[in-house]
Amino acid sequence: MNDDKKAAALAAIAEVRDGMLVGLGTGSTAAFAIAGLGDRVAQGLAIRAVATSAASERLARAAGILIVDFAGVSRVDLTIDGADEIDSRLFAIKGAGGAMLREKIVAASSDRMIVIADGSKRVARIGAAKLPVEILPFAAAYVLRVLAEMGGAPVVRADYRTDQGNLVADCRFTMPDDVGTLAATLAGIPGVLGHGLFLNEVDAAYIADDGIVTRLER
Ligand code: 5RP
Repeated sequence: MNDDKKAAALAAIAEVRDGMLVGLGTGSTAAFAIAGLGDRVAQGLAIRAVATSAASERLARAAGILIVDFAGVSRVDLTIDGADEIDSRLFAIKGAGGAMLREKIVAASSDRMIVIADGSKRVARIGAAKLPVEILPFAAAYVLRVLAEMGGAPVVRADYRTDQGNLVADCRFTMPDDVGTLAATLAGIPGVLGHGLFLNEVDAAYIADDGIVTRLER
């Protein structure tokens, strides 16, 4: 599985060119991309990067990648990130690592967003993975009530805060055919800061199975 994560990551970073501002995802697959980019930087690749989590920022700095503050960045050239599930529509569920809010913002700002994954993440239709929802602590009880009434059976991650200091509830929705309506409904709940449904952000995916990398393009 790790070999496939690495194979997918290395295929994706081949798209990175000199001068690019690169979005660095979060998680074990993204970590292979960060390490691979670090190797290329050591060989002379000139890039800057923004990180989607404190953990990825630490990894990137340790790998010698120049990190800039995303707060001053309006456009990213290419973002490379993992996923918990991805289907052939390039709909993804992300956020097992809790970074989906920053990941979605960085993806939205990116000219191109690539998901990298081993074959276990590829599904016919997204929906089996837990769907994480980031919640402002002030709004916790209200948002949890709404998520429960929507059938999401939310479970708050114990002893966990996001990089922004917020709560995460993992939900299990029966994924409707009209998943866009679910995404919009979740985003519209006051107190919900983000969720792990990525429906419009992903432009391409590199998925590796037993060393064979398949590229999906929107
Ligand atoms: C973090 C994420 C990760 O990209 C996702 O959970 C996949 O992680 P991994 O590559 O470790 O399986 O969305 O918020």
